Amino acid sequence: MKRLNSQLQEDGAPLELILLIRTLLAGCKEIAFRVSQGALAGVLGSTLSENVQGETQKKLDVISNQILKDILSESGYVKAISSEEEDDVVPCNPDGNYLVSFDPLDGSSNTDINSLIGTIFSIAHAPQWMKPDDPSAFLQPGTQMVAAGYVLYGPSTMLAMTTGKGTHLYTLDKTHGGFLLTKANVHVPEQTSEFAINASNQRHWEPEMQSYIGDLLAGKDGPRGKDYNMRWVAAMVGDIHRVLCRGGIFMYPYDKRDPGKPGKLRLLYEANPMAFLMEQAGGLANTGTGRIMEVMPTEIHQRVPVLLGSKEEVEACLGYHNQA
Ligand code: AHG
Ligand code: MN
Ligand code: MN
Repeated sequence: MKRLNSQLQEDGAPLELILLIRTLLAGCKEIAFRVSQGALAGVLGSTLSENVQGETQKKLDVISNQILKDILSESGYVKAISSEEEDDVVPCNPDGNYLVSFDPLDGSSNTDINSLIGTIFSIAHAPQWMKPDDPSAFLQPGTQMVAAGYVLYGPSTMLAMTTGKGTHLYTLDKTHGGFLLTKANVHVPEQTSEFAINASNQRHWEPEMQSYIGDLLAGKDGPRGKDYNMRWVAAMVGDIHRVLCRGGIFMYPYDKRDPGKPGKLRLLYEANPMAFLMEQAGGLANTGTGRIMEVMPTEIHQRVPVLLGSKEEVEACLGYHNQA
């Protein structure tokens, strides 16, 4: 089976980017090990602190963030980091050529129930003019990403990654410690009958989303003319992995609760990397009003609504938005 290094070279990734990705993944392998130790290592449960978004941090959020922060800032390749668990950007090497944004542990409410969790990341070029503590260089649209991916800490540890030459899936082979290519050039089926949304938020959705989901629930007697199934992992990495593997639509739509939070998921380290993976696999990634990767960020922890997945199903959902 092909190794990650060979696939990255074949896709034309420059050497320094390959070395940076390998460094980042060394951190993810350490997270995978810590996660697998669970209660034996005392890593489950919450801390007494909150992150900048007002969420109580799990011990594994803090541990994962520290692992990635240390390994990336010591690497020399990185000028600055932005992380879900850091209020501000973290300056690294002033001569570093890359910016890395990450969600160190996605789905952290799943840690205490031994369910799916993962790390999501994106990489962009660091502009020469940028000072390492200047957040403005991170405020570039997702179209500027040079690589993005996630590591899923599931029954197998898997990596989904793109450098803009297709989305590939790799599985961690613990016998030698490397990621091996197990599915090249993922293609998300264009049609689906599976959707993912947290339906407990229904009363907060806009009318177009109410109608769309209503029509899916109406099944073959409704306007869509077929029965749908629903899944919700409560970890975007788990839901997006399922969509990449067998199709589907994943939604965390616009929500009326708080005008300051037009969605739940964060643009830089959740929506954008998943959008890049989805588009490279032939799927769509939209906010409901435009392509996720074209949103111009105004701050590093900005939230956006997300509709991601099978092309024809995302288009169907957007049809309801266009009518509105
Ligand atoms: P995080 O654990 O990094 O804060 O992200 C959790 C996110 C996302 O992974 C998931 O899809 C969503 O929150 C789940 O939200 P609900 O609590 O509404 O299920
Ligand atoms: Mn997350
Ligand atoms: Mn997280």
